[in-house]
Amino acid sequence: MSRFLKSRLSIGIRKDYLTTHDCESLLHVKRRDLRSHIEHWQNCTGKELLPKPPLLPQSKLENCKVYNSRQLLIQSLSLGPRGIEVGTQKGDFAKHILDSVSSLRELTLIDMDLSQLETKNIADSRVRLMEGKSQDCLNTLQDDHYDFIYIDAGHGYDDFKHDLEISARKINSNGVIICNDYTSWSPLEVEPYGVLRALNEFLVSHENNFDVIALGLHVWGYHDLAIRKKS
Ligand SMILES: C[S@@+](CC[C@H](N)C(=O)[O-])C[C@H]1O[C@@H](n2cnc3c(N)ncnc32)[C@H](O)[C@@H]1O
Repeated sequence: MSRFLKSRLSIGIRKDYLTTHDCESLLHVKRRDLRSHIEHWQNCTGKELLPKPPLLPQSKLENCKVYNSRQLLIQSLSLGPRGIEVGTQKGDFAKHILDSVSSLRELTLIDMDLSQLETKNIADSRVRLMEGKSQDCLNTLQDDHYDFIYIDAGHGYDDFKHDLEISARKINSNGVIICNDYTSWSPLEVEPYGVLRALNEFLVSHENNFDVIALGLHVWGYHDLAIRKKS
């Protein structure tokens, strides 16, 4: 059994999707045969190794612009004066937002652990801090009020889905939600992310209310997808 496969199954996928028994049956497989074995295993068991996200409707992508980074994406979108970053950690990206959104008047930073924040990033009178679980903090904020929300907190399916659904209520019409880590797999943590599936499902079910306006690429696949609420 390869160490690669063992780590992939036992550290990553198994945690969320597979039972120990399911894992055992895949652990004998050589790496080069893995894909065909997984397809066979899926057909036999009716299970999916990773849940398959729905495709985005092509109509949602007609006005989507692609940027080489999230930094350029933020600089290029004409974002309005009231913003939120959900999941801010040291405040590195908050600093980028503060420096690049020229119309910005207020940036609310939410994190369950604000002790990580570095003062140099947030020494700005436009910053407002909220400590707590993202969904609890977002729920206390005014509906239809914010011009943009950057979501980068929990990357599991349920956490992200809730952050997205609440954010959709908090932004005004024409407001933008930018979702970091738009992917199904984190190569650095060797584990699944639920952001891509939850966002695709959201866009399919809110087909008439949101458009995809921008994709910010990341070299390891931690892309950003920005969506705009229709007026
Ligand atoms: C990837 S870091 C954010 C990085 C930051 N956006 C940047 O690009 O510089 C994720 C942050 O989200 C916070 N976080 C994770 N799950 C959360 C939750 N459910 N509620 C609030 N904060 C959460 C973590 O404490 C961590 O600081």
